[in-house]
Amino acid sequence: LPAGTLNGRRVLVSAGGTREPLDPVRFLGNRSSGKQGLALARAAQAAGAEVTLVAGSMASGVDLGGIDTISAETTEQMHAAVLDHAAESDVLIMAAAVADFRPAGYTTTKIKKTDDAADPVIQLQRNPDILAEVVQRRAQSGGGPEVIVGFAAETGDDTHAPLELAEQKLARKGCDLLVLNHVGENLVFGQDTTEIHILASEHAQRMLGEAHPLHVTGSKAQAAEAVVAQAAR
Ligand code: C5P
Repeated sequence: LPAGTLNGRRVLVSAGGTREPLDPVRFLGNRSSGKQGLALARAAQAAGAEVTLVAGSMASGVDLGGIDTISAETTEQMHAAVLDHAAESDVLIMAAAVADFRPAGYTTTKIKKTDDAADPVIQLQRNPDILAEVVQRRAQSGGGPEVIVGFAAETGDDTHAPLELAEQKLARKGCDLLVLNHVGENLVFGQDTTEIHILASEHAQRMLGEAHPLHVTGSKAQAAEAVVAQAAR
């Protein structure tokens, strides 16, 4: 992507995984390393954008140097940080792996095992959908990011191919671009290489004037370049 392509544009990127606390020492989390989100932030910055990164939990050793970063541990914190900055951003890229559910209760003291008590059951409650909310706000106010990019990590299931699930998610979330990550236990998470498809809404396809989905395999940096190039047009 030529330097200067995104001069003067503000790009908000979320990356990493959320952690939902159960008690002072435990949380529900996920396998996101934050590498893809960070690569997106770096690609946008290299293209001249003013980048803000909302970072959930990242793999150790991931270097956020030189990126304006807001830390967010829980979905609620990420929700607040993203909504705070979305209105003044030109592009939002939601690469974070956000927990769809959080524990319904939080105990301020450590949950203990006792010999007589029954095994505990963790009850979950739904988290706000940050991406869907930004899309909805834009539709209502006409303001907010011109380009909203969502992510989908799919393994596929018995009856649906990953691409089919991603098409459904694009329609359901109402974002402009959706990046499908083909995931599996040893695929993508924490790795430096990836395989993605970039899907575009009908409106975005007309704007971009090219056939979608785009298939990209390679390093997370190469995937990030491809996504940022689409979002920049
Ligand atoms: O619904 P699902 O979690 O598969 O959607 C993934 C996309 O939605 C990602 O872009 C993720 O960052 C975003 N998301 C969100 N808020 C949630 C769950 C997911 O913004 N509560």
